[in-house]
Amino acid sequence: MNSDKDKQAQAERLAHLRRKKGLTAEQLAQAMTKAGAKVSRGAISNWERGTNGIVSSKLPTLARILGCSEGYLLRGDLNVDINNNSAKTVRNRATLKNNKKGYMTTNATHTSDQDATLEVATDTHTSSNETVVTQNEHSEAIVHPDKQPLLDRTTMDGKPMTLLKKSDKLKSVCYDIRGPLLKTANKMEAEGQRILKLNIGNPAPFGLHAPHEILRDVAMNLPNAIGYSDSQGIFAARKAVLHYYQSKGLRSAVDVSDVYLGNGVSELIVMTMQALLNDGDEVLIPMPDYPLWTAATNLAGGTAVHYRCNEEDNWQPDIEDIKSKITSKTKGIVVINPNNPTGALYSDDILKQIIEVAIQHDLIIMADEIYDRVLYDDMVHTPMSTLTNDVLVLSYNGLSKSHRIAGFRAGWMMLSGRKQHATDFIEGLDMLASMRLCSNVPGQYAIQTAMGGYQSMKELTSEKGRLFKQRELAISRLNAIPGISCTMPQGAFYCFPKMDPAVYPVKDDMEFMMELLLEENVLMVQGTGFNWDAPDHFRVVFLPNMDDLEDAMDRLDRFFAKKRQQYGTN
Ligand SMILES: Cc1ncc(COP(=O)(O)O)c(C=O)c1O
Repeated sequence: MNSDKDKQAQAERLAHLRRKKGLTAEQLAQAMTKAGAKVSRGAISNWERGTNGIVSSKLPTLARILGCSEGYLLRGDLNVDINNNSAKTVRNRATLKNNKKGYMTTNATHTSDQDATLEVATDTHTSSNETVVTQNEHSEAIVHPDKQPLLDRTTMDGKPMTLLKKSDKLKSVCYDIRGPLLKTANKMEAEGQRILKLNIGNPAPFGLHAPHEILRDVAMNLPNAIGYSDSQGIFAARKAVLHYYQSKGLRSAVDVSDVYLGNGVSELIVMTMQALLNDGDEVLIPMPDYPLWTAATNLAGGTAVHYRCNEEDNWQPDIEDIKSKITSKTKGIVVINPNNPTGALYSDDILKQIIEVAIQHDLIIMADEIYDRVLYDDMVHTPMSTLTNDVLVLSYNGLSKSHRIAGFRAGWMMLSGRKQHATDFIEGLDMLASMRLCSNVPGQYAIQTAMGGYQSMKELTSEKGRLFKQRELAISRLNAIPGISCTMPQGAFYCFPKMDPAVYPVKDDMEFMMELLLEENVLMVQGTGFNWDAPDHFRVVFLPNMDDLEDAMDRLDRFFAKKRQQYGTN
C-alpha cells in the first residue's frame, strides 16, 4: 500500500545517503551527469522532497554513486535488490506518480484533486516514456506480480482513461518561486487566512505604482497597438533602448536590428537558450541564481553549471570557481547584476575579470541587468556592454522593476561587442522572435517614455524613499535575530540571509519555510529554490510597506526563537 509516509521515507533515504557521502545536490547531479545519467540539481531536490519519485532510468546510476542497492533507495531493503526483473515488468505495465498532496492506490477511485496524478503506461508504451518509480509500486509488484495494479477504470463516463503527462523535457526543470509554498499559501488565502507575502518581486501589488506618464502614453497608443508589430519590436522603442546604452558609454557599433523586445526578460532568456544550446552544452550560472536561468538552460537541453558567489565577499562572483568550471562544452556565462536574490552590485573590477575569462575561453556573456536602476547609497551600475568590444554581450533589461509594470511584459535584449562569429546564432534568435510573432505591443509603447527623463525609482531608493527605509528595516531586524546574518543589498529589493547551521540545523529548507508559512502565515522562498547548494539560506523580498514588513519580522523573530528552543540551541 502506497502512502505519503512511504514516499517521504524514500525521499529521506536519498537525502540522508547523499549527505552521508558528503555530496551537495549539485555535486550529485554533476556526478550522475558525468556517469551518463543526466539529471539536474532541481530534479534531485524534487526527489528529496518527495515532489517527484526517482526516475527509473536514473536509479542504477544513483544507487551506484550512493553506494547502495536500488532496493534500498526505493523501499529501504537492506538485502540485495531481489526484484529488478519484476520491477521492470511492472514499470512497463503501469506507473503511479506520487505528487505533493495526493496519491492513489490500486483500488483508489480517481479523485478530483488535480495534484493527484495517475499515469497509465501499457505494454505498448514506448520506452522513451521514462517511468517514475515509487517504493510501493515495487512492493505491489513483488506481492502481486500478475496484477495490473494502477489502471484507473473509474471515469465518470465509464471509458478507460490515460492521463496526459508533462513532457520529459520538463523533468529537469525546477522553478520554486511559484512552487509548492505558493500553492499552499493560495489555499490558505482561499480559506480566509491573511498571508504576509515576501516571496515575489512584483512591485505593483505592494502599492509601488507605475509612473502616471507611462500609463498615459500606453493608453494613448492603444489604437496603434492593435495589430502585430515587427517581430523584434516597434522602431521607436528599440531606438530608445539603443540611446539608453549609448548614453552609458556603449563601446561597440550597435543598431536597432541588435535590439529585440520581448514579453519581459523572461521570454528573452528562454529564447536565448533555445537558440544557443545543443544537448549537453553548458552554461555558467551564478549560485545563488534567479532560477529561470537554470530552468531555461535545462529546458533547452543544456546543463546549468553553477559558479559560486561568495557571501563573505558581499556575494561577488568567485572568479577562480568560474575558471575551474569551464569545459569544452561551456558556451556562455550568465551575470545577474544587480543580483536577485542577494541584492549585490558587482564591482567593475569583477566584471572586467569575467570579461577576461570570456575572451580567453570564447564564451558569450548574458548580462541580466533588470535591476540596474534599483540602486541604493548612490551606487552606480556599469552595464557590461560598456566594458568590452571583444566578447558577444547579450544585455537583458526591462520595465517590470524600474517602472513597476511587470504585468505589461515589457523587456528587451541587446546584442553588442563581437558579433562576426555569431551570425548563425543570431539567425536562430531571429527565427525564434519571428515564431512568436511579436511581444505584447501595448507594453512596447511604454519603453520610449521610460528610457529617458525623470526616473521615479530614484526617489523610492533615496534615503527618504520607501524602498530605502524598507531595506533598512528588513536588514536590521534580520541581523538582530540570533543565528541569522544578512549582507546589505546595494541594489534590487531582495536579501538572502543565512541561517547559521550550528543554531538552525535545517535539513530541508523548503519544509522549514513551509512550517513558517503554516505557523506564522509568512511566505518566503527557501535558498535551494535559487539553486543554492545548502539548506541554510532564504530570500526576503522587502517590497511590503513598513507596517507589513514590521509585522513579518515580528513573526520571523517568534518563529526562529521557537526553532532555537526545538533544536536546543538557545
Ligand atoms: C534577475 C531577474 N531577471 C529576470 C526577471 C524576469 O523579469 P521580466 O518581468 O522582465 O520577465 C526577474 C524577475 O523577477 C529577475 O529577478
